[in-house]
Amino acid sequence: MHVAPPPSSLNKLPPPIVPGQPLTALAPMQDVTDLAFMRVVAHYGAPDYFVTEFFRVHAQSRPEKHILRSIDENTTGRPVFAQLIGEDLHHLSRTVEELLKHPVAGIDLNLGCPAPKVYKKNVGGGLLREPEKVAEIFACLRAAVPGLFTVKMRIGFEDTRHFERLLDLVNEHRVDMLSVHGRTVKEMYRSEVHYDEIARAVARVRCPVLANGNITSAPKARDVIRQTRAAGVMIGRHAIRNPWVFRQCRELFSGHPLSRVKLQDVREYIDRLYRATQSSEIPEQAHVNRMKKFLNFVGQGVDPDGAFLRDMRHAQSEASLFAVCDRHLLGAAGDLDFSPEPYAGVIARPNCETPDAPSDSCSLFSVGT
Ligand SMILES: Cc1cc2nc3c(=O)[nH]c(=O)nc-3n(C[C@H](O)[C@H](O)[C@H](O)COP(=O)(O)O)c2cc1C
Repeated sequence: MHVAPPPSSLNKLPPPIVPGQPLTALAPMQDVTDLAFMRVVAHYGAPDYFVTEFFRVHAQSRPEKHILRSIDENTTGRPVFAQLIGEDLHHLSRTVEELLKHPVAGIDLNLGCPAPKVYKKNVGGGLLREPEKVAEIFACLRAAVPGLFTVKMRIGFEDTRHFERLLDLVNEHRVDMLSVHGRTVKEMYRSEVHYDEIARAVARVRCPVLANGNITSAPKARDVIRQTRAAGVMIGRHAIRNPWVFRQCRELFSGHPLSRVKLQDVREYIDRLYRATQSSEIPEQAHVNRMKKFLNFVGQGVDPDGAFLRDMRHAQSEASLFAVCDRHLLGAAGDLDFSPEPYAGVIARPNCETPDAPSDSCSLFSVGT
């Protein structure tokens, strides 16, 4: 089934779990894809690659300890790329030097963060307005990174006027892998994903490209790869909803039927996630609230009316949260299928995933109310 880019560029990357199959990666997600979540996903079937939450780079920055743990204590057996967000050349090189002392698979640059407070500092997605500044940063990182230098970008700030120039810079500075989220910064998470623009990137750059944006399932991954001819996919929110998705991708890519997931399996996933993210430093109430942020996505596959989501959002304690989970995921419901696709109209974060939500309402991992 697969469309492979020229072998030379692919061979530089760590081999996928199943050689010859399209690549899969867990999209980096601040406050989500930490060490605990990486281990939980790996339990259900790891992606080929992990990418850390971004390390902030500025004059006073030091690599955040909690993010370094996802590199130093990575027991998943899969490579992890360290992602940077910043624009200061000296401090970017300094941070690369520090991170290369850790077992990273490579260094990734964030060129997509859409949060206003981030792009107003002219980092992340804000840099998509200034291709010549990006050229300086690519040259700096290419010089500082002897191994794999990768980039994750959106297709533009408010439009695609600089997209081709940025793709040419990817070639010019020999970027080793490019992940493209098929939206502009201004489109946040609301618009349709422009897979045609991802196809344009695949056709223009020499390195492997991972297609990213609203890949909800293994069949959707296959379709997007066919449409874009990308070397693989990067999946974010729907890996929170369905941590089996990477295993299901491998099953589908090798022509096998997808493993069936039942609501009782989801109950076990929630329990595993709760235990994995629990710590003596986090009070129960705060932990329950953090769990709700994950369950906002899980709930999209539990019932078409969003009843689980509604009940879950009212839980105030561990006991009441798991009582809701038992009611909706065990007993007679336990043997029901967990929907392979999110149910239409069941929105994880209404405040930033619905077309008419106000533009600056999206704090990246907020509970939709
Ligand atoms: C809660 C959250 C946090 C995110 N944090 C990051 C980040 O740290 N670095 C990054 O490059 N992208 C970040 N993203 C963007 C995702 O990596 C991904 O590009 C986006 O969610 C679209 O993919 P999806 O539809 O598969 O979720 C974040 C997205 C979400 C929802």
